[in-house]
Amino acid sequence: MTTEGELASRADSAAEDVVLRAEGLVKRYGSVTAIDGADFDLRKGEVLAVIGDNGAGKTSMIKALCGALIPDEGTIWLDGRQVRFHSPLDARHAGIETVYQTLAVAPAMDIAGNLFLGRELRKKGLLGAVFRTLDHRGMRAEAQRQLDALGVATVQNIGQLVETLSGGQRQAVAVARAAMFAQRLVIMDEPTAALGVRESAMVLDLIRRIRDNGLPVVLISHNMPHVFEIADRIHVHRLGRRVAVVKPDDYAMNEVVALMTGALRLGEDGELTKVELNNR
Ligand SMILES: Nc1ncnc2c1ncn2[C@@H]1O[C@H](COP(=O)(O)OP(=O)(O)O)[C@@H](O)[C@H]1O
Ligand SMILES: [Mg+2]
Repeated sequence: MTTEGELASRADSAAEDVVLRAEGLVKRYGSVTAIDGADFDLRKGEVLAVIGDNGAGKTSMIKALCGALIPDEGTIWLDGRQVRFHSPLDARHAGIETVYQTLAVAPAMDIAGNLFLGRELRKKGLLGAVFRTLDHRGMRAEAQRQLDALGVATVQNIGQLVETLSGGQRQAVAVARAAMFAQRLVIMDEPTAALGVRESAMVLDLIRRIRDNGLPVVLISHNMPHVFEIADRIHVHRLGRRVAVVKPDDYAMNEVVALMTGALRLGEDGELTKVELNNR
């Protein structure tokens, strides 16, 4: 038998595990409801995949979580404290870094320059404070240390211009940059969408290492084999809201796809039931 006290403490410990949580998010664009009462939770130490059809509202929800969009309704908590982000910078200051599908790198700058873009290190003392002189040597050393820690062996030279890198290497730079500055979590919206097989594998490896180094990761992806390979839990999004959360070991890939398309529904007990076409 479980006492109420035990149940309460179990609920508490589950809450302690939650890094980022949202309830009842809504965002309307005129007659289009992009987010329709979405709930979300990300726990410590996990890669949470977010899957859903095109237009399901995945990007919109992620934007609400990282300050790129202000929801009309709903509540967001970071480490149990309610937060209200008015811009992506707010979310960054709170420790949330986001990597978008479109590569946000500056091609004409070198790797170290890209890693510190907008957050350059200044020289210590008067030179940095008054003349705002950049500490190039310090940035290179830190950039190299960061890439080594993430096991990004594919880039040889930290002074290499980003325009000479492959798509996968560029994405690795963007991901490394997020991991370097994120204090609480990293969000990635389809980071492998534009990449080939080997390059995707490299970015997936990187995601795994970020998680193992202690930062939880939200990974939006269309690629079911990738999701099943890397996710600890899968958040299934449909018609603007979360319809299920499953573990990849508990269900087959085709069952999860059916949840995504609405052909199957997940009950409280974990049972899957068929949904007739006219009820979807
Ligand atoms: N800025 C916007 N203005 C109008 N409609 C939008 C805007 N952003 C997204 N939408 C609409 O909201 C819905 C969800 O889009 P999105 O969040 O991009 O979905 P997903 O990332 O799952 O493909 C779509 O119907 C899309 O057309
Ligand atoms: Mg999207």
